[in-house]
Amino acid sequence: MSQAKKTRVKKAKAAGVAGATKKAGKKPMNDKTVTDSSNDASAASPGNTSVNSTSVNNTSVNAIRAGFLDFFARNGHQVLPSSPLVPRHDPTLMFTNAGMVQFKNVLTGAEKPAFPGVATAQKCVRAGGKHNDLDNVGYTARHHTFFEMLGNFSFGDYFKERAIALAWELLTKDYALDKKRLLITVYADDDEAARLWRKISGFSDEKIIRIAGSDNFWSMGELGPCGPSSEIFYDHGPSVKGGPPGSPDAEGDRFVEIWNLVFMQYEQVAADKRIDLPQPSIDTGMGLERIAAVLQGTHDNYEIDLFCALIAASVSLTGVPAKGEAKPSHRVIADHLRAVSFLIADGVLPSNEGRGYVLRRIMRRAMRHAHLLGAEEPLLWRLVPTLVTEMGHAYPELERGQSLIVETLKLEETRFRDTLERGLRLLDEATRGLKRGEMLPGETAFKLYDTYGFPFDLTEDALKARGIGVDTKGFAACMERQRAEARKSWAGSGEAATETLWFELKEEVGATEFLGYGAEASSGEIVALVKDGKRVSELKAGERGAVIVNQTPFYGESGGQVGDRGLVSSPSGARFQVEDTQKKLHGLFLHSGALEAGTLKVGEVVDLEVDHARRTATRANHSATHLLHEALREVLGLHVAQKGSLVEPGRLRFDFSHPRPMTQAEIKAVEDLANTMVLQNSAVETHLMGPDEAIAKGALALFGEKYGEEVRVVSMGRSEASHKADHAYSVELCGGTHVRRTGDIGLLKIVGESAVASGVRRIEALTGEGARSYLATQDQRVREAAELLKVGPDEMIERLAAILDERRKLEKQLADAKRELALGGGAAADTASAIRDLGSVKLFARTLQDVAPKDLRGLVDDAKRQLGSGVVAIIGVSEEGKAGLVVGVTDDLTQTYNAVELARAGAEALGGKGGGGRPDLAQAGGPDGSNAAAALDAIAARITGGAAAEADAARAGTA
Ligand code: ALA
Repeated sequence: MSQAKKTRVKKAKAAGVAGATKKAGKKPMNDKTVTDSSNDASAASPGNTSVNSTSVNNTSVNAIRAGFLDFFARNGHQVLPSSPLVPRHDPTLMFTNAGMVQFKNVLTGAEKPAFPGVATAQKCVRAGGKHNDLDNVGYTARHHTFFEMLGNFSFGDYFKERAIALAWELLTKDYALDKKRLLITVYADDDEAARLWRKISGFSDEKIIRIAGSDNFWSMGELGPCGPSSEIFYDHGPSVKGGPPGSPDAEGDRFVEIWNLVFMQYEQVAADKRIDLPQPSIDTGMGLERIAAVLQGTHDNYEIDLFCALIAASVSLTGVPAKGEAKPSHRVIADHLRAVSFLIADGVLPSNEGRGYVLRRIMRRAMRHAHLLGAEEPLLWRLVPTLVTEMGHAYPELERGQSLIVETLKLEETRFRDTLERGLRLLDEATRGLKRGEMLPGETAFKLYDTYGFPFDLTEDALKARGIGVDTKGFAACMERQRAEARKSWAGSGEAATETLWFELKEEVGATEFLGYGAEASSGEIVALVKDGKRVSELKAGERGAVIVNQTPFYGESGGQVGDRGLVSSPSGARFQVEDTQKKLHGLFLHSGALEAGTLKVGEVVDLEVDHARRTATRANHSATHLLHEALREVLGLHVAQKGSLVEPGRLRFDFSHPRPMTQAEIKAVEDLANTMVLQNSAVETHLMGPDEAIAKGALALFGEKYGEEVRVVSMGRSEASHKADHAYSVELCGGTHVRRTGDIGLLKIVGESAVASGVRRIEALTGEGARSYLATQDQRVREAAELLKVGPDEMIERLAAILDERRKLEKQLADAKRELALGGGAAADTASAIRDLGSVKLFARTLQDVAPKDLRGLVDDAKRQLGSGVVAIIGVSEEGKAGLVVGVTDDLTQTYNAVELARAGAEALGGKGGGGRPDLAQAGGPDGSNAAAALDAIAARITGGAAAEADAARAGTA
């Protein structure tokens, strides 16, 4: 299955056959059974598995769906919800287009079934790729872009007999269809099926038609599970043209296939090789819209209650009755509304690539029809409430996604409105001279596409009614010419070789579809492998390289958020560790890393799984960054603008403009505000809109980001004080991944505030587990400190303050003691011993061990006071033997002795140089503390010598 190159439904006709024309008689279902079924629905699982409270009669679409699921629940089946329209586990398929898509791996045996028997109502879209019903929708009775397929499945449990018996019972008993109206087909060789039908229905061979070839052999694609099928047809009666299946006029509308039972028996493993499935299984499909039409007595799907309601809403909003030329337009709108709403609800948003472009094409086609109906205002979004009323109960995702659906439609309609009118004018002019059967030149179609945003099929659709075709080849040639020009200008732009490679790859394989907003795991088809900067067709175990797939849940680094890591694996045993994901050229995702085991080949289908824990932590940090940004603006002011951001699993870093360091109080206020939003645990909402609208909503534009046509706007938190739309606290343009609710952030803790450049500050913060373990470590430290202090953590501060106070007191006492010691311990004799009488002047000279130079000054001052008149010189010798010297001269003697000179004299003896200060107080020092005595002597000598010299000078002066 995983090898399937193209997965297409060869013959999944539930929605796809052009219209029958004749009404059948009304065939009400058996009232009692349906009522019972409805009550039984409580046993079913959520979503489309229960009865819609809005159903008003027993043949309503909602009642039929519920009746089907209920019937199979009663018959031992597990009712499961529909899988999403974007198949996560089948990258080769654009949209889910049959009920068995979600069970593909179970059928092939790759996956174990959780239940032996299952029933679903599956959402299906056929509007892209091979099965494109878009062209016909609106013009036939049974084509839809979106439809529901009812199906029951047996995975190795029951087989043909029970499958036939169950189908027969539901149709003829519960749905009370007239046996006479039914007809069966079986695969030509399937004697067993024919025999079982004879037994169960009592039909003769004429009513069990054997069909050779692909019509009664169903396969999901060129490869994959397949088997003979048996179809149940409904006969609308002889007044409708057409013959029974297998007859020459089988294409007519008289006989309509309503249910396809596939007896899954084989797996096509190569074009010419078919093997038995591990266990024969059952896959059935019944189009809900078709069976509803039959049960509601009409041949026309658009006349069933659901479509009547949608069309009535469209009629009432436009004021145009659904008649004549307006009829197809109303039908197109009703059909397309369902497709686009369900696609948006499943995470597809309009874009110019892949699934998003298919969505856009459907939307724009519907918009043209709204325009045809003369709608002056955007119309589609106003129909969404009706759709939600009709289908929201069965599909709660519609209710959940309602605001996103409404906004997306409104945006697309508003933006497309102008160009639509201008484009239609151009189209009118270009086709004025054209007659039925003629062609619009491809060039014009291309201009409409390129300049006016007209998808090709919109142009086709617009000319359909006039019988004018469009030159497809010419259009394709124009597209190719445009590509070639882009290539040329790229080649001329002098980019590095690898960049050129990315450009070529993006052009060839297209942008990677990112599924990671909603999923962390999906499958993907390898579209390219790169090794050493070159494309290769395979990677072998032990090699490093990059893997490119058509769709991925891995986030590619952008907007400050790091790329995802995780695992790419294949059914054949390959294990590629993704160490980083990078996004090139806005959309080509490179998963780089190492292939640990196995081989990877281009074309292979692989499973991609994001490292969940890492993504979860990164997500929390990203959302926390938004809250932090807003809180900073609130606390510091609106000048705060993002200057850079790094969002990793382990931490977040946010750089912003602010002229000075934040105070502790500011940091706390920011942290408190952000955490208030975290605790609010409100939903984080993402919307797609035009950049101008986003700004109008109050979105903060990110620094240096480039945006395409539309932007994602992420809002979180609620604040009554907020002036932003819906009182959102934070609104930002952002393509990153975010938490679902703010509470998922857990906790925000700022752990750093620093400068990055002038006027730019940086905050570092932790969230969730990171913040918790940071705080746990801090808490542990507090406990340990409290233990050392021998108090409980609560009294710790008080105790610490007391200790510091005590320490200050002790320091003072110590200094006092040292001083006393310096001055001779207060004993007169000691003091006297330090005093040298130098005749006219007294010198207090002393050497002290272990006294710091800074403490000497105070001692010198004290000694000066004690002396009254004289010179003081104190040397403090440190433990290392270095000396500090302070010399003081009492004021009365400063004319005679200069403290600076005396200090210099002492310093020389200490091996030092210089000395500084004032005449009354100077200091110096030197490395030789051992020469302290000599230094003091030198000072004494200087005093006496200096005094004698002075006396000489005085004498000479007076002589
Ligand atoms: N898978 C079958 C179909 O789509 C039932 O018709």
